[in-house]
Amino acid sequence: MERKVGVALVGCGRIAPIHAIALKELPFTEIVMTMDVIRERAEAFAREYGGQPTADYQQVLANPKVEVVQICTPHYNHAQLALKALEAGKHVLVEKPMALSVEDAKEMIATAQRKGLQLGVIFQNRYNASSEAVKEAISSGELGELRAARAFVTWHRDDEYYRSDPWRGTWAQEGGGLLINQAIHTLDLMQWLMGEIKTVSANCRRWGHEFIEVEDTAEAYIRFANGALGCFYGTNCYPANEPVFLEVLGTKGKAQIIADKAVITIGDEIREITPESNSSSHPSYWGRGHQTQLADFYQSLLKEEKVKIDGTEGIAAMALVLAMYASSATGAEIDFQQFIKGSH
Ligand SMILES: NC(=O)c1ccc[n+]([C@@H]2O[C@H](COP(=O)([O-])OP(=O)(O)OC[C@H]3O[C@@H](n4cnc5c(N)ncnc54)[C@H](O)[C@@H]3O)[C@@H](O)[C@H]2O)c1
Repeated sequence: MERKVGVALVGCGRIAPIHAIALKELPFTEIVMTMDVIRERAEAFAREYGGQPTADYQQVLANPKVEVVQICTPHYNHAQLALKALEAGKHVLVEKPMALSVEDAKEMIATAQRKGLQLGVIFQNRYNASSEAVKEAISSGELGELRAARAFVTWHRDDEYYRSDPWRGTWAQEGGGLLINQAIHTLDLMQWLMGEIKTVSANCRRWGHEFIEVEDTAEAYIRFANGALGCFYGTNCYPANEPVFLEVLGTKGKAQIIADKAVITIGDEIREITPESNSSSHPSYWGRGHQTQLADFYQSLLKEEKVKIDGTEGIAAMALVLAMYASSATGAEIDFQQFIKGSH
Protein backbone atom coordinates (compact mmCIF):
# COMPACT_ATOMS: atom_id res chain seq x y z
CA MET A 1 0.00 0.00 0.00
CA GLU A 2 1.10 3.51 -0.77
CA ARG A 3 2.17 5.54 2.26
CA LYS A 4 -0.16 8.14 3.72
CA VAL A 5 0.92 11.78 3.79
CA GLY A 6 0.34 13.42 7.18
CA VAL A 7 -1.77 16.59 6.96
CA ALA A 8 -2.65 19.35 9.41
CA LEU A 9 -5.91 21.10 8.65
CA VAL A 10 -5.58 24.70 9.82
CA GLY A 11 -8.79 26.72 10.14
CA CYS A 12 -11.89 24.62 10.86
CA GLY A 13 -14.63 26.90 9.52
CA ARG A 14 -17.04 26.75 6.58
CA ILE A 15 -14.78 25.48 3.80
CA ALA A 16 -12.81 23.09 5.99
CA PRO A 17 -15.30 20.14 5.85
CA ILE A 18 -14.81 19.96 2.07
CA HIS A 19 -11.05 19.65 2.62
CA ALA A 20 -11.52 17.16 5.46
CA ILE A 21 -13.92 14.93 3.51
CA ALA A 22 -11.59 14.95 0.50
CA LEU A 23 -8.61 14.06 2.72
CA LYS A 24 -10.55 11.21 4.34
CA GLU A 25 -11.64 9.83 0.97
CA LEU A 26 -8.14 9.88 -0.52
CA PRO A 27 -6.25 6.64 0.13
CA PHE A 28 -2.90 8.39 0.48
CA THR A 29 -3.63 11.15 3.03
CA GLU A 30 -4.24 11.19 6.76
CA ILE A 31 -5.35 14.10 8.93
CA VAL A 32 -2.86 14.04 11.80
CA MET A 33 -3.77 17.41 13.33
CA THR A 34 -6.70 19.83 13.27
CA MET A 35 -5.99 23.39 14.34
CA ASP A 36 -8.18 26.41 14.95
CA VAL A 37 -7.74 29.43 17.19
CA ILE A 38 -11.19 28.48 18.48
CA ARG A 39 -10.22 25.24 20.19
CA GLU A 40 -13.75 23.73 20.16
CA ARG A 41 -13.77 23.90 16.35
CA ALA A 42 -10.50 21.97 16.14
CA GLU A 43 -11.90 19.42 18.61
CA ALA A 44 -15.15 18.99 16.72
CA PHE A 45 -13.17 18.41 13.50
CA ALA A 46 -10.85 15.91 15.17
CA ARG A 47 -13.86 13.95 16.46
CA GLU A 48 -15.41 13.87 13.01
CA TYR A 49 -12.38 13.45 10.76
CA GLY A 50 -9.56 12.24 13.02
CA GLY A 51 -6.28 13.81 14.09
CA GLN A 52 -5.08 15.56 17.21
CA PRO A 53 -6.80 18.89 17.91
CA THR A 54 -4.92 22.01 18.92
CA ALA A 55 -5.33 25.77 19.14
CA ASP A 56 -1.56 26.29 19.04
CA TYR A 57 0.09 26.61 15.63
CA GLN A 58 3.52 25.92 17.15
CA GLN A 59 2.34 22.37 17.87
CA VAL A 60 1.51 21.92 14.20
CA LEU A 61 4.95 23.19 13.16
CA ALA A 62 6.73 21.03 15.73
CA ASN A 63 4.94 17.78 14.83
CA PRO A 64 7.20 15.64 12.57
CA LYS A 65 4.17 13.66 11.36
CA VAL A 66 2.76 16.81 9.73
CA GLU A 67 4.17 16.92 6.20
CA VAL A 68 1.57 19.27 4.70
CA VAL A 69 -0.20 22.26 6.24
CA GLN A 70 -3.53 22.87 4.56
CA ILE A 71 -4.63 26.46 5.24
CA CYS A 72 -8.37 27.26 5.39
CA THR A 73 -8.26 30.43 7.47
CA PRO A 74 -9.40 33.99 6.67
CA HIS A 75 -7.40 35.74 3.94
CA TYR A 76 -5.28 38.05 6.11
CA ASN A 77 -3.26 35.28 7.73
CA HIS A 78 -2.67 33.01 4.70
CA ALA A 79 0.79 34.44 3.98
CA GLN A 80 1.96 34.48 7.58
CA LEU A 81 0.80 30.90 8.30
CA ALA A 82 2.20 29.61 4.99
CA LEU A 83 5.59 31.25 5.52
CA LYS A 84 5.90 29.79 9.03
CA ALA A 85 4.96 26.33 7.74
CA LEU A 86 7.47 26.51 4.87
CA GLU A 87 10.23 27.70 7.21
CA ALA A 88 9.40 24.73 9.46
CA GLY A 89 9.92 22.38 6.49
CA LYS A 90 6.24 21.65 5.71
CA HIS A 91 4.62 21.68 2.28
CA VAL A 92 1.66 24.06 2.03
CA LEU A 93 -1.71 23.94 0.31
CA VAL A 94 -3.51 27.25 0.82
CA GLU A 95 -7.05 28.35 -0.03
CA LYS A 96 -7.50 31.27 -2.42
CA PRO A 97 -6.36 34.03 -2.37
CA MET A 98 -2.82 32.87 -1.53
CA ALA A 99 -2.07 36.26 0.09
CA LEU A 100 -3.26 39.86 0.14
CA SER A 101 -0.23 41.46 -1.49
CA VAL A 102 2.01 40.65 -4.43
CA GLU A 103 4.98 41.10 -2.12
CA ASP A 104 3.76 38.42 0.33
CA ALA A 105 2.87 36.03 -2.49
CA LYS A 106 6.35 36.43 -3.99
CA GLU A 107 7.93 35.75 -0.60
CA MET A 108 5.88 32.56 -0.30
CA ILE A 109 7.01 31.41 -3.76
CA ALA A 110 10.66 32.24 -3.02
CA THR A 111 10.57 30.51 0.37
CA ALA A 112 9.05 27.32 -1.09
CA GLN A 113 11.76 27.33 -3.78
CA ARG A 114 14.57 27.94 -1.30
CA LYS A 115 13.35 25.15 0.99
CA GLY A 116 12.60 22.73 -1.88
CA LEU A 117 8.96 22.46 -0.78
CA GLN A 118 5.63 22.44 -2.59
CA LEU A 119 3.30 25.42 -2.39
CA GLY A 120 -0.17 24.72 -3.79
CA VAL A 121 -3.05 27.19 -4.15
CA ILE A 122 -6.69 26.14 -4.34
CA PHE A 123 -8.41 27.07 -7.61
CA GLN A 124 -10.60 23.99 -7.83
CA ASN A 125 -12.66 25.15 -10.81
CA ARG A 126 -9.70 24.64 -13.13
CA TYR A 127 -10.27 20.92 -12.56
CA ASN A 128 -13.90 20.94 -13.76
CA ALA A 129 -14.37 18.88 -16.92
CA SER A 130 -15.83 22.01 -18.54
CA SER A 131 -12.74 24.14 -17.79
CA GLU A 132 -10.37 21.41 -18.96
CA ALA A 133 -12.33 20.96 -22.21
CA VAL A 134 -12.18 24.68 -22.99
CA LYS A 135 -8.48 24.81 -22.16
CA GLU A 136 -7.91 21.89 -24.55
CA ALA A 137 -10.00 23.55 -27.31
CA ILE A 138 -7.71 26.59 -27.02
CA SER A 139 -4.37 24.75 -26.83
CA SER A 140 -5.23 22.44 -29.73
CA GLY A 141 -6.00 25.50 -31.90
CA GLU A 142 -9.64 24.43 -32.37
CA LEU A 143 -10.93 27.88 -31.38
CA GLY A 144 -8.38 29.67 -33.54
CA GLU A 145 -6.81 32.92 -32.37
CA LEU A 146 -8.37 34.31 -29.22
CA ARG A 147 -10.25 37.58 -29.72
CA ALA A 148 -12.30 38.22 -26.59
CA ALA A 149 -13.65 36.92 -23.32
CA ARG A 150 -16.60 37.96 -21.19
CA ALA A 151 -17.69 36.81 -17.77
CA PHE A 152 -20.55 37.45 -15.36
CA VAL A 153 -20.80 36.51 -11.70
CA THR A 154 -24.20 37.42 -10.25
CA TRP A 155 -24.44 35.92 -6.80
CA HIS A 156 -26.18 36.58 -3.53
CA ARG A 157 -24.49 37.30 -0.23
CA ASP A 158 -26.87 38.76 2.34
CA ASP A 159 -26.07 41.12 5.21
CA GLU A 160 -25.96 38.14 7.57
CA TYR A 161 -23.09 36.67 5.53
CA TYR A 162 -21.02 39.81 6.12
CA ARG A 163 -22.07 40.04 9.79
CA SER A 164 -21.38 36.34 10.51
CA ASP A 165 -17.59 36.67 10.83
CA PRO A 166 -15.71 39.88 11.70
CA TRP A 167 -13.09 39.40 8.94
CA ARG A 168 -15.64 39.58 6.11
CA GLY A 169 -16.27 42.87 4.37
CA THR A 170 -13.05 44.46 5.69
CA TRP A 171 -9.99 45.68 3.77
CA ALA A 172 -7.58 44.59 6.48
CA GLN A 173 -8.80 41.01 6.86
CA GLU A 174 -10.75 39.98 3.75
CA GLY A 175 -8.61 42.26 1.56
CA GLY A 176 -11.57 43.22 -0.62
CA GLY A 177 -15.02 41.83 -1.29
CA LEU A 178 -16.66 40.34 -4.36
CA LEU A 179 -13.46 40.31 -6.44
CA ILE A 180 -10.97 38.82 -3.97
CA ASN A 181 -13.39 36.33 -2.46
CA GLN A 182 -15.99 35.16 -4.98
CA ALA A 183 -15.13 36.39 -8.48
CA ILE A 184 -11.46 35.41 -8.16
CA HIS A 185 -12.36 31.90 -9.38
CA THR A 186 -13.87 33.21 -12.63
CA LEU A 187 -11.08 35.74 -13.12
CA ASP A 188 -8.55 32.95 -12.59
CA LEU A 189 -10.24 30.86 -15.29
CA MET A 190 -10.32 33.86 -17.63
CA GLN A 191 -6.61 34.60 -17.26
CA TRP A 192 -5.68 30.89 -17.38
CA LEU A 193 -7.58 30.47 -20.66
CA MET A 194 -6.72 33.79 -22.30
CA GLY A 195 -3.02 34.09 -21.41
CA GLU A 196 -0.77 36.94 -20.35
CA ILE A 197 -2.45 40.16 -19.24
CA LYS A 198 -1.30 43.52 -20.58
CA THR A 199 -3.54 46.09 -18.86
CA VAL A 200 -6.42 46.18 -16.38
CA SER A 201 -9.12 48.82 -15.70
CA ALA A 202 -11.93 48.48 -13.20
CA ASN A 203 -14.67 50.26 -11.31
CA CYS A 204 -15.56 48.83 -7.94
CA ARG A 205 -18.43 49.94 -5.77
CA ARG A 206 -20.49 49.13 -2.72
CA TRP A 207 -24.01 48.73 -3.98
CA GLY A 208 -26.15 46.60 -1.68
CA HIS A 209 -24.34 46.23 1.67
CA GLU A 210 -23.95 49.69 3.10
CA PHE A 211 -22.10 48.73 6.28
CA ILE A 212 -19.17 46.84 4.68
CA GLU A 213 -15.90 48.57 3.77
CA VAL A 214 -15.23 46.72 0.54
CA GLU A 215 -16.85 46.35 -2.91
CA ASP A 216 -19.82 44.08 -3.50
CA THR A 217 -20.07 44.99 -7.22
CA ALA A 218 -17.46 45.55 -9.93
CA GLU A 219 -16.92 45.89 -13.66
CA ALA A 220 -13.53 45.35 -15.24
CA TYR A 221 -11.79 45.45 -18.61
CA ILE A 222 -8.65 43.51 -19.49
CA ARG A 223 -6.34 43.80 -22.51
CA PHE A 224 -4.45 40.58 -23.09
CA ALA A 225 -0.95 40.41 -24.58
CA ASN A 226 -2.34 38.49 -27.60
CA GLY A 227 -4.57 41.49 -28.45
CA ALA A 228 -7.78 39.94 -27.10
CA LEU A 229 -10.13 41.99 -24.90
CA GLY A 230 -11.81 40.77 -21.75
CA CYS A 231 -14.75 42.22 -19.88
CA PHE A 232 -16.22 41.24 -16.54
CA TYR A 233 -19.23 42.19 -14.47
CA GLY A 234 -19.92 40.85 -11.01
CA THR A 235 -22.12 41.51 -8.01
CA ASN A 236 -22.94 39.89 -4.70
CA CYS A 237 -26.21 41.79 -4.54
CA TYR A 238 -28.22 39.67 -6.96
CA PRO A 239 -31.19 37.97 -5.25
CA ALA A 240 -29.98 34.49 -6.24
CA ASN A 241 -26.75 32.59 -6.89
CA GLU A 242 -27.15 32.39 -10.65
CA PRO A 243 -24.76 30.26 -12.74
CA VAL A 244 -21.42 31.88 -13.53
CA PHE A 245 -21.01 32.65 -17.24
CA LEU A 246 -17.64 32.77 -19.01
CA GLU A 247 -17.17 32.91 -22.77
CA VAL A 248 -14.02 32.74 -24.82
CA LEU A 249 -14.32 33.83 -28.43
CA GLY A 250 -11.80 32.77 -31.08
CA THR A 251 -11.49 33.25 -34.83
CA LYS A 252 -12.73 29.69 -35.49
CA GLY A 253 -15.28 29.22 -32.71
CA LYS A 254 -16.36 29.99 -29.18
CA ALA A 255 -16.53 28.22 -25.86
CA GLN A 256 -18.95 29.02 -23.08
CA ILE A 257 -18.77 27.85 -19.49
CA ILE A 258 -22.10 28.08 -17.70
CA ALA A 259 -21.70 27.02 -14.06
CA ASP A 260 -19.92 23.67 -14.47
CA LYS A 261 -21.05 22.88 -18.03
CA ALA A 262 -19.28 23.88 -21.22
CA VAL A 263 -20.66 24.46 -24.71
CA ILE A 264 -18.06 24.55 -27.48
CA THR A 265 -19.26 25.79 -30.88
CA ILE A 266 -17.11 25.40 -33.99
CA GLY A 267 -19.08 26.34 -37.11
CA ASP A 268 -22.23 24.18 -37.11
CA GLU A 269 -20.84 21.70 -34.62
CA ILE A 270 -21.93 22.16 -30.99
CA ARG A 271 -20.34 20.05 -28.25
CA GLU A 272 -21.56 19.97 -24.65
CA ILE A 273 -19.45 18.92 -21.72
CA THR A 274 -21.43 18.18 -18.58
CA PRO A 275 -20.06 17.41 -15.12
CA GLU A 276 -20.21 14.10 -13.33
CA SER A 277 -23.19 14.00 -10.97
CA ASN A 278 -22.63 16.09 -7.86
CA SER A 279 -23.77 14.11 -4.86
CA SER A 280 -21.99 16.21 -2.25
CA SER A 281 -23.84 18.43 0.19
CA HIS A 282 -21.88 21.64 -0.32
CA PRO A 283 -23.14 24.45 -2.60
CA SER A 284 -22.94 23.41 -6.26
CA TYR A 285 -21.33 26.76 -7.20
CA TRP A 286 -18.20 25.69 -5.25
CA GLY A 287 -17.93 22.72 -7.67
CA ARG A 288 -16.53 19.23 -7.04
CA GLY A 289 -13.05 20.37 -7.86
CA HIS A 290 -11.61 20.36 -4.32
CA GLN A 291 -11.61 16.57 -4.34
CA THR A 292 -9.87 16.47 -7.73
CA GLN A 293 -7.37 19.20 -6.91
CA LEU A 294 -6.43 17.59 -3.59
CA ALA A 295 -5.98 14.19 -5.29
CA ASP A 296 -3.75 15.81 -7.91
CA PHE A 297 -1.77 17.81 -5.31
CA TYR A 298 -1.00 14.75 -3.15
CA GLN A 299 -0.24 12.52 -6.13
CA SER A 300 2.29 15.08 -7.38
CA LEU A 301 3.76 15.31 -3.90
CA LEU A 302 4.20 11.53 -3.67
CA LYS A 303 5.73 11.39 -7.14
CA GLU A 304 7.95 14.37 -6.23
CA GLU A 305 6.63 16.28 -9.24
CA LYS A 306 5.79 20.00 -9.24
CA VAL A 307 2.15 20.58 -8.26
CA LYS A 308 -0.02 21.93 -11.07
CA ILE A 309 -1.44 25.04 -9.37
CA ASP A 310 1.64 26.23 -7.52
CA GLY A 311 2.47 29.70 -6.21
CA THR A 312 3.43 31.00 -9.65
CA GLU A 313 0.01 29.94 -10.96
CA GLY A 314 -1.81 31.12 -7.84
CA ILE A 315 -0.36 34.63 -7.82
CA ALA A 316 -1.91 35.57 -11.19
CA ALA A 317 -5.58 35.89 -10.23
CA MET A 318 -4.69 37.47 -6.88
CA ALA A 319 -2.55 40.11 -8.59
CA LEU A 320 -5.27 40.65 -11.22
CA VAL A 321 -7.77 41.46 -8.48
CA LEU A 322 -5.29 43.78 -6.73
CA ALA A 323 -4.65 45.56 -10.04
CA MET A 324 -8.43 46.02 -10.38
CA TYR A 325 -8.53 47.65 -6.94
CA ALA A 326 -5.60 49.89 -7.88
CA SER A 327 -7.34 50.92 -11.09
CA SER A 328 -10.62 51.63 -9.35
CA ALA A 329 -8.89 53.73 -6.69
CA THR A 330 -6.92 55.84 -9.17
CA GLY A 331 -9.06 55.75 -12.31
CA ALA A 332 -5.98 54.62 -14.26
CA GLU A 333 -5.54 51.72 -16.66
CA ILE A 334 -2.93 49.56 -14.92
CA ASP A 335 0.08 48.11 -16.74
CA PHE A 336 -0.21 44.60 -15.31
CA GLN A 337 3.35 43.37 -15.86
CA GLN A 338 4.68 46.56 -14.29
CA PHE A 339 2.20 46.15 -11.44
CA ILE A 340 3.52 42.67 -10.65
CA LYS A 341 7.17 43.69 -11.07
CA GLY A 342 6.84 46.94 -9.13
CA SER A 343 5.13 45.52 -6.07
CA HIS A 344 8.29 44.63 -4.17
N1 LIG B 1 -12.38 27.48 -2.91
C1 LIG B 1 -13.61 27.82 -2.59
O1 LIG B 1 -14.56 27.63 -3.35
C2 LIG B 1 -13.87 28.47 -1.27
C3 LIG B 1 -15.17 28.57 -0.75
C4 LIG B 1 -15.33 29.17 0.51
C5 LIG B 1 -14.23 29.68 1.19
N2 LIG B 1 -13.00 29.59 0.61
C6 LIG B 1 -11.79 30.15 1.30
O2 LIG B 1 -11.52 29.41 2.48
C7 LIG B 1 -10.93 30.27 3.45
C8 LIG B 1 -11.74 30.20 4.72
O3 LIG B 1 -13.05 30.64 4.46
P1 LIG B 1 -14.27 30.17 5.38
O4 LIG B 1 -15.50 30.64 4.70
O5 LIG B 1 -14.13 28.73 5.73
O6 LIG B 1 -14.00 31.06 6.68
P2 LIG B 1 -14.53 30.82 8.16
O7 LIG B 1 -14.47 32.13 8.86
O8 LIG B 1 -15.84 30.08 8.12
O9 LIG B 1 -13.44 29.83 8.79
C9 LIG B 1 -12.14 30.23 9.08
C10 LIG B 1 -11.68 29.49 10.34
O10 LIG B 1 -10.30 29.82 10.56
C11 LIG B 1 -10.12 30.03 11.96
N3 LIG B 1 -8.93 30.87 12.15
C12 LIG B 1 -8.81 32.20 12.07
N4 LIG B 1 -7.52 32.56 12.26
C13 LIG B 1 -6.82 31.42 12.46
C14 LIG B 1 -5.46 31.14 12.71
N5 LIG B 1 -4.53 32.10 12.79
N6 LIG B 1 -5.09 29.84 12.88
C15 LIG B 1 -6.02 28.84 12.81
N7 LIG B 1 -7.32 29.05 12.59
C16 LIG B 1 -7.72 30.33 12.40
C17 LIG B 1 -11.42 30.67 12.43
O11 LIG B 1 -11.59 30.51 13.83
C18 LIG B 1 -12.45 29.88 11.60
O12 LIG B 1 -12.89 28.73 12.27
C19 LIG B 1 -10.87 31.65 2.81
O13 LIG B 1 -9.63 31.81 2.20
C20 LIG B 1 -11.95 31.59 1.74
O14 LIG B 1 -11.75 32.48 0.66
C21 LIG B 1 -12.79 28.99 -0.57
